[in-house]
Amino acid sequence: MNEEAWERALQRIDLGPRFYYDRVGSTNDVAQKLAAEGAPDLTLVVADEQVRGRGRQGRSWFTPPGAGLAFSVILRPESGVIHGGNLSRINGLGALSVAKTLQDGYSIPAEIKWPNDVLVEGRKVCGVLVESHWKGDRLSNAILGIGVNIKPTPVLEEEELQYPAASLQQVSGQTFQRPVVLARVLQELVAWYPKLPSEVFLSTWEGMLTFRGQSVQLFLGGKSIAEGKIAGLGPDGALRLEKRSGKVESFQVGEIQLRLVDRS
Ligand code: BTN
Repeated sequence: MNEEAWERALQRIDLGPRFYYDRVGSTNDVAQKLAAEGAPDLTLVVADEQVRGRGRQGRSWFTPPGAGLAFSVILRPESGVIHGGNLSRINGLGALSVAKTLQDGYSIPAEIKWPNDVLVEGRKVCGVLVESHWKGDRLSNAILGIGVNIKPTPVLEEEELQYPAASLQQVSGQTFQRPVVLARVLQELVAWYPKLPSEVFLSTWEGMLTFRGQSVQLFLGGKSIAEGKIAGLGPDGALRLEKRSGKVESFQVGEIQLRLVDRS
């Protein structure tokens, strides 16, 4: 990995220490180890290749050398800002930082599939994996892991059929400098991080949600558990679904998957 090029791109961003690797198992694991050793807030781990990258729900996430971005940020929010009830705001922070970068920096119409997949024209270009560590009911740290597919290499082993993986190059026809993309995403992340508990953070995340007002189905363990129209987000980042009865129910980030209901 050409560490200098990455360092140059990131030098003006108000991050903690930065660690670059040619190859790791998972950047989340490296970040977790650093966090356990006391690494400070906004420590960054970037890898050119991951050989045991993890996705949500036990899936694998492949990052072949040079194909995309694979990085993790150690977050240690101020005491009380994040608690068990609103942890999903960190998922939102990851997705929002990537989606805003794509929209504002590259004019790519990115949207967020709740809670944190970034889609472009219905195809997934980015995934987010948050792993949190607690001391009692106090958040000790959260590892925010982000994978962005940049080059047209199959990065995901498997994905729900409705959201096939795609790369930024494929969906936009543009070419990308990986360190520049990373710098832009981190700039957004550093700017939004202090606003994590705010109303404007929630409304910005909500404003980027795909399928708003459309009927979706929620799945848990492969089984449909609810169907309704996306009404927005609750203060805790939960998805609010308006059922056919008109009743609104909230669903927390967890193992839930979301699919658009096919009315054709
Ligand atoms: C998903 O969509 O299922 C989440 C994918 C998260 C992938 C990123 S790549 C960097 C970090 N390290 C990992 O092992 N996973 C996350």
